[in-house]
Amino acid sequence: MLTGGGDCPGLNAVIRSVARSSIDHGDEVVGVLRGWRGMIEGQTRPLGGHEVSGLLPRGGTILRTSRTNPFDVDGGIERVLEHMRGLDALVAIGGEDTLGVAARLHTEHGAHVVGIPKTIDNDLRGTDYTFGFDTAVSIATEAIDRLHSTAESHDRVMVCEVMGRHTGWIAVMAGMAGGADVILIPELPMTVEHCCDLIKNRHARGKDFSIVVVSEGYELHYESGESRGVASADVDAFGHARLGGVGAALASEIEDRTGFETRVTTLGHIQRGGSPTARDRVLATRYGLKAAELVREGAWGMMASLRGDEIVAVPIAEAVAELKLVPQELYDQAAVFFG
Ligand code: F6P
Repeated sequence: MLTGGGDCPGLNAVIRSVARSSIDHGDEVVGVLRGWRGMIEGQTRPLGGHEVSGLLPRGGTILRTSRTNPFDVDGGIERVLEHMRGLDALVAIGGEDTLGVAARLHTEHGAHVVGIPKTIDNDLRGTDYTFGFDTAVSIATEAIDRLHSTAESHDRVMVCEVMGRHTGWIAVMAGMAGGADVILIPELPMTVEHCCDLIKNRHARGKDFSIVVVSEGYELHYESGESRGVASADVDAFGHARLGGVGAALASEIEDRTGFETRVTTLGHIQRGGSPTARDRVLATRYGLKAAELVREGAWGMMASLRGDEIVAVPIAEAVAELKLVPQELYDQAAVFFG
């Protein structure tokens, strides 16, 4: 198995689960190091019962990870396929990029792959929840709670920038849980003017502080129809721009337009670090058991997925075809508490 893309809490729990179940059924398990880079370079390590012991609560991934795209590397796919000949099956644990490669390997080359969905962003259409998301939301919620008391003491507006890439799942869930006064997300963008009006109305009602949660992928939108993004020009091997910084741009707009003292906190990789929540440990464990079962069944090209309370199998290709966006209805529920 391999772990690819950004790390997230619960990866080690999945590794333990796939390995324990497979070993119990008499299979030999090997870990590929650093995602698809390890499949190109043939870097592996054995994963026996001893190696996966004690992993359940540990953050990060003992297999390491990378954002290498083998389709973007000269001769990359040939080398991946060559190394796959030494394996009966490959369990790819990742988000849209890692699983997108797995899907192509299966459909274009008939590779024996099975997928497991992970990402703090929760943006994979093929499943109700990815593991890692619950931990990120819990961390962001605690941060928002803490920002409340200091915002109130100083009569300030606090802007809290959270991760999530092109979707606002972390922002909406943590914002709702933390009682944010405004939440800004990329897929349903509020204008800067409207955001400032909400804050001004709140202050007019005697509330001297406000909490604004903004998702890193939000671009500043204006009533004029113009918009302004702050993403870096650097892109990774999958073409994603490095995000981060919109919180600072928004804070400066809010301070200029409302006259209220404003500060920004960017949570960044803290949302991805450390031990997974109980919910993520359980979800990761159930995904791992399902993936090991799919391997035994030879259900190539399938991915473990959560549907309601059940873990089912869905085609990886379908799961990565489109991003799962925050629905209008959920955003509207959060918006009832704005301002
Ligand atoms: O996809 C997970 C994620 O944490 C995003 O929310 C974020 O934009 C990105 O990864 C950051 O990537 P990196 O760790 O490469 O800076």
